[in-house]
This record gives sequence, C-alpha cells and structure tokens, in this order.
Amino acid sequence: MSDSLVCVSDYERQAQRLLPKSVFDYYFSGADEQQTLRDNVAAFARWCIYPRVLRDVSTVDMSTTVLGQRVSMPICVAATAMQRMAHPDGETATARACLSCDTGMMLSSWATSTIEEVAEAAPGAVRWMQLYIYKDRALTQSLVRRAEKAGYKGIFVTVDTPYLGRRRDDVRNRFKLPSHLRMANFETPDLAFSSKEGYGEDSGLSVYVTQAIDATVKWDDIAWLKRMTSLPVVVKGVLTAEDAKEALKYGVDGILVSNHGARQLDGVPATIDALPEVVEAVEGKVEVFMDGGVRKGTDVLKALALGAKAVFVGRPVLWALACEGDKGVSNVLQLLCEELHLALALTGCRSLKEVNRSLLRRSELISRF
Ligand code: FNR
Ligand code: LAC
Repeated sequence: MSDSLVCVSDYERQAQRLLPKSVFDYYFSGADEQQTLRDNVAAFARWCIYPRVLRDVSTVDMSTTVLGQRVSMPICVAATAMQRMAHPDGETATARACLSCDTGMMLSSWATSTIEEVAEAAPGAVRWMQLYIYKDRALTQSLVRRAEKAGYKGIFVTVDTPYLGRRRDDVRNRFKLPSHLRMANFETPDLAFSSKEGYGEDSGLSVYVTQAIDATVKWDDIAWLKRMTSLPVVVKGVLTAEDAKEALKYGVDGILVSNHGARQLDGVPATIDALPEVVEAVEGKVEVFMDGGVRKGTDVLKALALGAKAVFVGRPVLWALACEGDKGVSNVLQLLCEELHLALALTGCRSLKEVNRSLLRRSELISRF
C-alpha cells in the first residue's frame, strides 16, 4: 500500500489535487445544499459500537454471498458513471481490481468502457449491470441482453433518477464529458453523451437525462424487467418501508438502500438511517444492501449490524482510480477489508453471522442517560 495513502480520505485529498476541477466537482457533488451528502458520512457516528470481548478472534471469516455469488468480503463496488475521466483505463481498471480482491463490481450503464470490454478485462469476476430505463425500451432491453451474454450476474435497476438531481457545481461548470470520451455502450453521439450541438447553459448530464431517460417509469416497469430477464433484479434507490414492501410485491430479488450518493434529492435521510426500516419491512424475504457514505471498516460493520447483506462504495473507488488506477482501487478495497477485519475482531465477531443489532446503540439515546 502507498505510504502516504492509508485511509479513504487520504485518497480523496490526493484525487482532488490530481483531477481537473470539473471532473472532481462532478464526482464529489451532492444535490442542492449537500445536506444529505454530509449526513451520509456523519450519520455513521450517531451509532456506537458495543463490543464483546474474550472470544478468540484469531481467525475472522469475512466471506459472504451477494445474490448467490461468493465474494471475499461484504464490500462491493457501486456503479459510478464515466470512470475514464479518473484514469485512462477507467472501468476496466476497476474490474481488474475487483477480480484481484475477489469482490463484485456493479457497472454503470453510463460507463466509458463497454459492457463487453469490462467483462474481457476481468474474466471470471463477479459483475452486475446497473440499468437506467431509457425512453427507448428496445435500447434498454439490449443493455440487459448484452449484460446477460457477457456473464453479468444481476441487474441493479436505478429507480431514483427520473430526472437528474441538481448539482450546482455541474451547472456552474456546464459539465460534459471531455471530447475524447463517450458513454461507450451507445452508438449515436446523442445517446453517448457526446452531442455535437452541446448542452447549453445547464449541467450537460442533466440535459442528457431529460432527453433520454424515461420519467414515466413506475412499478409495472419492474414487472416488465422481471419478465424480460432471468437474472436477479435489484431495485437501487429505495429509502422507505413502503417502497420496500411495494418492491416485494413486484418480485424483486434484492433492495439496495441508496440515496444515489446524496446526488438526487437533498434532504433525504442518510442511508444508514434509512436502512433499519427497510430491513424490518423486508422481513428477510430478499437481500438488502446499502450504499452511501461508507468510508471506513466500522461503517461497514454498522451497516451489517443494521441488517445489510453487503455494502457498496462509490466515490472511494473514483478517488483510488484517479490516484493509482487499478492498483489504487485494489489498495482501497484492501484497506477497507483490513479495517473491517479489525473492526470485527475488536467487537468479538468471528464471522459475519455474528454481527447483529445488539452490537449497536444510537449515540443520542446513550447521551440522555
Ligand atoms: C454515482 N452513482 C450512480 N448510480 C447509478 O445507479 N448509476 C450511475 O451511473 C451512477 N453514477 C454515479 C457517478 C458518481 C460520480 C457518483 C459519486 C455516484 C451512485 C452510486 O452508485 C452510489 O449510489 C453512490 O456513489 C454511493 O455513495 P458513495 O459511496 O459515493 O458515498
Ligand atoms: C450521477 C449519475 C450518473 O449520479 O447517476 O451522476
């Protein structure tokens, strides 16, 4: 591991030095006032860990399964768009790093590498496809078919983005892809986010989403997706018990509790705070995952204790890519793995099965006593 980069926030600081401002701003930003962006991280501190002692923690088993696929740890990579802005190898570097750490990667529909290129970069790795539902349903279906053919093991359909959230710096920067890059899964310049006419005064991505993505999407479309593919389908972006129950009615195979890295609707709860009500509503019927603000091993421990089967990390991977390409991503995944290992051992847990709600108490409740 690099000497000076010993935690995720070191990678973030270093990435800020290295990346062009408009790229860093796009990766970093949350919606509006960024209240939820701050809270996604801060909320973890509102849960205190109550460790158990004297339990022989000389070995700790961190392996688990996600949608039936074995992974070495309950920490996987979330879909983040346009990774070649961070490093020339982009998503293919991330895929190689996930393979080397024996964990899973979710590929964005808006990757700057194709579905097939990413599969070829890391044959045998566990990969899932993140899906945006386009106005053009034949195009949407073709993304699913390509993912099936290339050996992806599930579809994470993003349900929190009928329009793009308003990220102020992207508006100020008139954010668009650098001219040498395109969203690689699409043929035409308009769909590949490389329109020759440009995108006017707004965030280019926001204009793109309004043009291409279907804002009429509703639960029936999840039924359509379930009928269309035999791959497991996970809804990405659920924050309430009500929607979790609705998702179960439509036969989803998993729920990813996510606020899209606080990039969509500002003022929604931190995901670690939304997780318990979703877990309770689901009653163990399907796997529940979470993402948002996970930066340390103890964050992962808290999410697992509150009922997540695994967590996903978004920005930490982008910072790592910017610093050191695939080696950086392996290092960041490895350091999160080591931090989780230590957190488990120091709470007296020898396997993930021993992690449960009894390890945590809300810190504001504690301070009243
Ligand atoms: C995202 N996210 C995202 N989600 C998605 O479904 N499709 C996508 O293409 C993207 N793209 C994307 C780009 C960037 C720059 C970021 C930061 C995020 C959301 C992502 O999958 C995940 O929900 C969050 O990133 C998790 O929060 P953290 O780990 O970044 O705090
Ligand atoms: C974002 C889109 C790509 O959050 O999901 O920027």
